[in-house]
Amino acid sequence: MATQLPTTDIRVGADLIRRRKGGTPIVCLTAYTYPIARLLDPHVDLLLVGDSVAMVVHGHETTLGASLEMMIAHGQAVMRGSARACVVVDMPARSYEGSAVQALASARRIVGETGCQAVKLEGGVDMARQIAAIVAADIPVMGHIGLQPQSVKKDGGYKIKGRTDETVAALIADALAVEKAGAFSVVIEGTIETVAADITRRIAIPTIGIGASDYCDGQILVVDDMVGLTVDRVPKFVKQYADLRSVITHAAERYASEVRDRVFPGPAHVFSKTNGGDDA
Ligand code: KIV
Repeated sequence: MATQLPTTDIRVGADLIRRRKGGTPIVCLTAYTYPIARLLDPHVDLLLVGDSVAMVVHGHETTLGASLEMMIAHGQAVMRGSARACVVVDMPARSYEGSAVQALASARRIVGETGCQAVKLEGGVDMARQIAAIVAADIPVMGHIGLQPQSVKKDGGYKIKGRTDETVAALIADALAVEKAGAFSVVIEGTIETVAADITRRIAIPTIGIGASDYCDGQILVVDDMVGLTVDRVPKFVKQYADLRSVITHAAERYASEVRDRVFPGPAHVFSKTNGGDDA
C-alpha cells in the first residue's frame, strides 16, 4: 500500500491554533495509529498522540505505562498518516518532571524523531519552568491542567477539579502559569464548567476542553471512546458517535462461523492455475 507522505507546508502549525482563540471551536481528537490518523486528518484541526495510548492500545491500567519510545513510535505512525492537522505528541510521565533540562532533552527527542508540531505535558505552576525551557528552544508546548491522568494515583482516582474555592484558585493559578510560560494552548480536563469558562475568559491562549464544557475554545476526546471501541470504563463526559465494538464483535462472530462451516474462503478468495494473477 502506498504511504501518503505528509506535506509539512500545508500543515496547521501551533501558531495557527493559538490564533484561533475565541473563534470557531478548535476540533481535536487523539490518534495513535497510521490508519486512524488517515481517517481523522481531513476532519480535525489537531491530532493528539495522547499518552492514553498506554491504556487504550497497550492495555496498561493507567497512562503511567507510557514510555518515551512508545510515544515516539506512535507519533511517527500518526505523522505518516496525517497531512494537514497539527500533530501534538504527549510527553509521558517520568520524561519531564525531574528538571527543565530533562524536559527539553525529551521534547527534542520527540520532535526530532517524529517531526510533530508540538508536545504536551501535564501540570501548571509546578511545570512552568519545564514549559518555558521547551518554548525557549522553539518547540511549541500545549499545557494540560485540571484532572491530570498522570497524577491519578496521587489524587486517588479520576477526580473532577474545581469544586472548592481552594481548587478553583489552584486551577486559575495553573492556567495563568502555563500561559505565562509560553504555551500555545492548554487542555482543561474534568473541571466544573464555570471554572473552565472563567479560565477561558482570563487567558489569551485557546483552552481545549475534555469534560470541561463548551465554554472552552475547542474540544478533544479520546478517539476510541468517541467511536465506541473502548473496552474498559468510559468517562461520563464522553459522547459516543459510533458503536465499533458491536461492528467488530459481529464481524468476528460471522467470520468464526463461516470458517467453522467451511463457507470462507469461498471461490472468490482462492487461487487456481487459471484464475487471478501473481499478486495476492
Ligand atoms: O492522553 C490523552 O489522551 C490526553 C487527552 C485526554 C487530552 O491527554
